[in-house]
Amino acid sequence: MSEFSLQQDSVAGARTLDQGDSLHQFRQEFVFPKTKAGENLLYFAGHSLGLMPKKAKEYVNAELDDWGRHGVEGHFHAKYPWLPYHENITESFARLVGAKASEVVAMNTLTVNLHLMMVSFYQPTAKRFKILIENNTFPSDKYAVDSQARLHGFDPKESIVELKPRPGQITVAPEDIEEQIRNLGDSLALILLGNCNYLSGQCFPFEKIAKAGHAVGAKVGFNLAHGAGNLKMNLHEWSADFAVWCSYKYLNAGPGGIAGAFIHENHLGKKDIPRFEGWWGHDKTTRFKMGPQFDPLKTAEAWQLSNPPIFQLASLRASMELFDRATMEELRKKSDRLSSYLEWLLKKKCQNSLEVVTPAVGSRGAMLCVKAKKNPRQLYESLKAKNVIVDFREPDILRICPAPLYISFTDVFQLTEIFQEALA
Ligand SMILES: Cc1ncc(COP(=O)(O)O)c(C=O)c1O
Repeated sequence: MSEFSLQQDSVAGARTLDQGDSLHQFRQEFVFPKTKAGENLLYFAGHSLGLMPKKAKEYVNAELDDWGRHGVEGHFHAKYPWLPYHENITESFARLVGAKASEVVAMNTLTVNLHLMMVSFYQPTAKRFKILIENNTFPSDKYAVDSQARLHGFDPKESIVELKPRPGQITVAPEDIEEQIRNLGDSLALILLGNCNYLSGQCFPFEKIAKAGHAVGAKVGFNLAHGAGNLKMNLHEWSADFAVWCSYKYLNAGPGGIAGAFIHENHLGKKDIPRFEGWWGHDKTTRFKMGPQFDPLKTAEAWQLSNPPIFQLASLRASMELFDRATMEELRKKSDRLSSYLEWLLKKKCQNSLEVVTPAVGSRGAMLCVKAKKNPRQLYESLKAKNVIVDFREPDILRICPAPLYISFTDVFQLTEIFQEALA
């Protein structure tokens, strides 16, 4: 039995769903891309690059104006002074990932933060040196763990272990993850998993993984590239050692947007932790005495290296204001309903041509991955020709993201009509 009724397979039915959606008005806050001819696009690529909040331009322009007006004095006298500018993001990031404010920081980009975290939390020994990662890991994550293993003199072939799905499966059975962790036992130095696999859309049970990892003495880190702004998280309670995320996908901070990092308070305030150091991680009260000895901040900010890019932080600030207003609780509820509506319509209209490979609600976020049974690239091209933006991963996966902050039930309905046409 579906939660949707037959009359909801219509424009009128979709509009009624929009009327019942308490987040529907948030789409007014975004700029929707158009074709060269000025036609509307159906934008389902928020898992790749989120749309631009209208306020982003205003906030970035305000910083440009303050740069012109104040020059170097903008560090102190801009409307939002640049010296502590990253702190404007801290509370929002903490709410977003379920952390204390002291545990999060906006800095750098994702892969850079991943390396910085591994410098601190991957300290292999002759016995304990393995890193457990996802199957189908995003290539940058694989390059990062391989190079960290090599840096410590280990062969990635022996030290990097991938979670294995059962034969013929794309997703990993959650109970198999804990078993693999137990089997690796005291050879396991670090678990590094995404909380939503970029290719299958599968979410992993983070709390259980953190417990299982700590039970064998491993450190546990999460890559929230596809989770931040998508899934509800409680990193502090789950005792993750660290997490990193980017902000250009669900968080709509723009291309190359500034990333985030979480370091559990258990690891804060320690001077002897291995860490790459830079002046922005130094105690703020004495930073400008310019002394030769590094004196780390007692928060996650100790991992900052450089003074941060203000324009990127300004556009992130615009987006985080929207997340604070919408709240992750409400976004997650809408997202489940939106992706269920999409799944229901696709199965109803395109059953013979498409297979949904993403697990059911409860084990997924916003993104739905569908396998095209015939001519996948051709299908993708014809969707594009019909003004639909989704993305294609070789050989046959289409990734579709109804981002709940700005996608409507009517958008979803229209998308499935176009799928049906394209397949015909
Ligand atoms: C899972 C995952 N890891 C790493 C990256 C790389 O991110 P960046 O280029 O911001 O370092 C991405 C980017 O899409 C990703 O999805």
